[in-house]
Amino acid sequence: MEALKISGLTKTYKTGVQALKGIDLTVDAGTITALLGANGAGKTTLIAILTGLVNKTDGSVSVFEHDIDSDPQSVRSMIGVVPQEFNFNIFEKVEDIVINQAGYYGVPRDKARARTEFLLRELGIWDKRRSIGRTLSGGMKRRLMIARALVHEPRLLLLDEPSAGVDVELRLGMWEFVRKMHAAGTTVILTTHYLEEAENLCENVVIMKKGEIIKSGAVKVLLRDAKQQSFVVTVVRPSGTEEIIDVFLVDGQSVTDYVQKLASDGTIVRDIRPKANRLEELFLEVNS
Ligand SMILES: Nc1ncnc2c1ncn2[C@@H]1O[C@H](COP(=O)(O)OP(=O)(O)OP(=O)(O)O)[C@@H](O)[C@H]1O
Ligand SMILES: [Mg+2]
Repeated sequence: MEALKISGLTKTYKTGVQALKGIDLTVDAGTITALLGANGAGKTTLIAILTGLVNKTDGSVSVFEHDIDSDPQSVRSMIGVVPQEFNFNIFEKVEDIVINQAGYYGVPRDKARARTEFLLRELGIWDKRRSIGRTLSGGMKRRLMIARALVHEPRLLLLDEPSAGVDVELRLGMWEFVRKMHAAGTTVILTTHYLEEAENLCENVVIMKKGEIIKSGAVKVLLRDAKQQSFVVTVVRPSGTEEIIDVFLVDGQSVTDYVQKLASDGTIVRDIRPKANRLEELFLEVNS
């Protein structure tokens, strides 16, 4: 089943900026997808259209087979969103922020309370439940927004840069949490500038550039097909000196060919390892 189906989606802002130039995208239910793209690529605009915050100019969008134009209520109730910018009432208490959100979706009060406790505990901010939003640290605010997004048990969770301003340890904890929600059946779409986040957490990636999708598919397949692969190779030259070289293999070239070429003049290859983040290379390649 498709969690999201977008066809020919365009958005031109009043200023004349064409933020989306005809997007076609299908996201299968039960997957985790990363939306990548440089600043201004159109990621937040896309998310804002899904949540009804921004009106599309043209095209069609459906969420779990409910059309956003003819059935906006259903679409909204199936989506939970963590926006890029903090947008809760900073003078409200943490637990109220979450519980009141449940009210918008008609979740009964008792159920909302139980769900709020579950989420705040899971996210490690239960002890802050009586604090007002303003007094939380940036990372805690982010987690509060995640709890708020999930209180009505949405089938599709949208996270717009969940890791922005979140320290490494917290980020790993958040990945764990997202995995848990995913295992429980939630479809997840997240935007990120951390390519290792996309590589570790997501099975699919969509790369946007200036309002268009320029590449999409399974992370594994994209990485396998990435044109360029780089390696760090440690060699010992016939003279006995050790050297570390950066090697870029393009198109059909294989590592074995490369090593054999080196060996032909008596150079010994001591160590060869791929550079850490291949997705980063792919990203740079398509954005260049
Ligand atoms: N409310 C708005 N009015 C006019 N133009 C806008 C508005 N919001 C976004 N834009 C423009 O639309 C384009 C896409 O912006 P968007 O915020 O969707 O990008 P993004 O991919 O989320 O970028 P970032 O990685 O910086 O968050 C940009 O050129 C931006 O200036
Ligand atoms: Mg954005």
